[in-house]
Amino acid sequence: MLIINSIEQLKNHLNSIREQKKTIGFVPTMGALHKGHISLINRAKRDCDVIICSVFVNPTQFNDLSDLEKYPRTLTADCQLLEQAKCNIVFAPEVREMYSEEELELKKQKIEDRSWTAGKMVDFGTLEKVMEGAQRPGHFNGVAQVVSKLFRCVAPHKAYFGQKDFQQLAIIRSMVKQLAMPIEIIACDIVREPNGLAMSSRNERLTKEERALAAVISKTLFKIKARCLAEPFSVLLKNGEDFIRSQPFMSLEYIEIADAFSLQPIKDIHSSKSAVVCIAVKIGAVRLIDNVVLY
Ligand code: PAJ
Repeated sequence: MLIINSIEQLKNHLNSIREQKKTIGFVPTMGALHKGHISLINRAKRDCDVIICSVFVNPTQFNDLSDLEKYPRTLTADCQLLEQAKCNIVFAPEVREMYSEEELELKKQKIEDRSWTAGKMVDFGTLEKVMEGAQRPGHFNGVAQVVSKLFRCVAPHKAYFGQKDFQQLAIIRSMVKQLAMPIEIIACDIVREPNGLAMSSRNERLTKEERALAAVISKTLFKIKARCLAEPFSVLLKNGEDFIRSQPFMSLEYIEIADAFSLQPIKDIHSSKSAVVCIAVKIGAVRLIDNVVLY
């Protein structure tokens, strides 16, 4: 497995791979890898000849500086997992390799008015106005900024994203479409702990007790799925809300049933062909998100 830090070296290496007419599968990550990430590598291996995984904690998508600082950085362990998974290339650049001083400064200034979007070449409209976009101003602009850069550096045939970040996936699909990037976006299922908790790098920051408690998050979502044809959405959401709010150490940021494509909230089963229930919860200082596709 090759570990590359510079964009120039990456481009040169990938050019030679493209000359050999091999297909390139790309899995972007922020590291602190777990089985959820590795499932994306495994899926990519089924489809492509050469697999590249990026490990880069992207500063422009964090709206909370302490969250950025606390984000786990475990490159050595990540590389071991990737090697075991038979990933071919790891791209692990420094922040300076990906961003100029100016870009970082610009992002800092504009985070309040949320006006940055890949040089205004893309407009996510209402897609970024709800849920994660509403709670984390500037977050999706930062995600789009780094993923568009990574896509230009890697130029993969296919790129793999987890449904764990459902709204992120919709944002990436929208960006690729608006910029007419010749990249196929593949959505991968959420990998869960045995107790149902969606795997996340942030779970590492939970105590053993909190981890056990966090199982109620997915339980709530699966309960809503089981009842979604039988009860009004308003009742399902109210019950879910009350249940989460009754848990110790937990605070609910949002729980919403949304159209699976537009991500706008919907009122009943007749309002869309496919729906998803999404949730964001804080346990202490750790913010967790999860979702379940209802139909
Ligand atoms: P990160 O949180 O490291 O996630 C990298 C990829 O792994 C994302 O596509 C995410 O949806 C997927 N993933 C995380 N947990 C998963 C799970 N339990 N099951 C399945 N897939 C899972 O998402 C990001 O990084 C960043 O925003 C990034 C796209 C890399 C841009 O910086």
